[in-house]
Amino acid sequence: MTSQKIKRIAVYTSGGDAPGMNAAIRSVVRSAIYQGLQVDGVLEGYSGLISGQLQILDLGSVANIIQRGGTILKSGRCPEFRTADNRKIASDNLKANNIDALVCIGGDGSFKGAHLLNSEHGIPIVAIPGTIDNDIFGTDNSIGFDTAINTALEAIDRIRDTAASHSRLFIVEVMGRDSGFIAAAVGLAGGAEQVFVPEMPQNIPKVIEHIKRGMTRGKSSSILIAAEGQKPGRAYDLADVIRKHSGFDAKVCILGHIQRGGSPTANDRILASRLGSAAVNALMAGKSGIMVGTHHDQVIMSPLEDCMTKKRVLSNELLELTRILSH
Ligand code: ADP
Ligand code: F6P
Repeated sequence: MTSQKIKRIAVYTSGGDAPGMNAAIRSVVRSAIYQGLQVDGVLEGYSGLISGQLQILDLGSVANIIQRGGTILKSGRCPEFRTADNRKIASDNLKANNIDALVCIGGDGSFKGAHLLNSEHGIPIVAIPGTIDNDIFGTDNSIGFDTAINTALEAIDRIRDTAASHSRLFIVEVMGRDSGFIAAAVGLAGGAEQVFVPEMPQNIPKVIEHIKRGMTRGKSSSILIAAEGQKPGRAYDLADVIRKHSGFDAKVCILGHIQRGGSPTANDRILASRLGSAAVNALMAGKSGIMVGTHHDQVIMSPLEDCMTKKRVLSNELLELTRILSH
């Protein structure tokens, strides 16, 4: 499909929602209309593609959403999209609605679905990274990460007040299914003693030694941050081990989905607006099978295949600095 033939596009949000997705939808819709395109929104991610839930979006339909968390198009996890038959149904629905190209806003799972739709049915697709986890290869930041870490940080600051008053040790569990980007960021910004991430196992006796050393200089409370990881009960398990080996009264606080909601920060709104517009421009320039992201504050494009197969690597720098600054 050449850019000349693209007259109508559809946009959808998929996977875990992220603050700033609405700002991205607004940018896609208004940039596309500015370029003379018609835009549809697909409801509920891949479920909506399979069931053909599309609605025309005009300039007014994205008014007053730039500041709103969540996604007006709704999101979801749709296991049915993993089968080729259902992707064929989705492709037929798009053709029946004269949709020439798609913009997918989501995480690496959503990109896998987009990539298959593109490779099996030739539908031009440009992806936008939208996930609080910030674990997407091909961009310095994904939409939602900045808001999520600020939300988590506000909670950690509050926990610090009560931890200090009661001379307690708290383990605060943050989101990040398979990745520690949120944990590493809020660990440093929240002045934590230690950060536990799925990518790098920690030596518990060493952690306890580190906390005890702090106590000898009069520190009475500690904050440890744990990324949720794959294992359920991670923070509770950690608390058990720490209690057993140190005798500290370890308390657990799981921040959970609080981190996914709320009004997006200025940084997330700016990122979402830039990437939404870049996605439309890329489609108009005849690009497909790519993700738009940023690197060194410049908008860049990367092959979608790289963004869904390659892992973004968490550096040890923030974790090590967190430990040093809390000694
Ligand atoms: P995220 O996009 O945030 O990583 P998920 O991993 O849950 O979230 O993926 C979102 C959706 O993308 C899934 O519910 C499914 O519909 C689709 N998807 C994920 N992996 C695949 C795959 N291998 N093939 C087809 N569709 C997929
Ligand atoms: O991928 C975003 C994320 O918030 C992860 O950090 C978390 O593990 C997961 O989604 C939770 O998914 P759900 O809302 O489906 O429980």
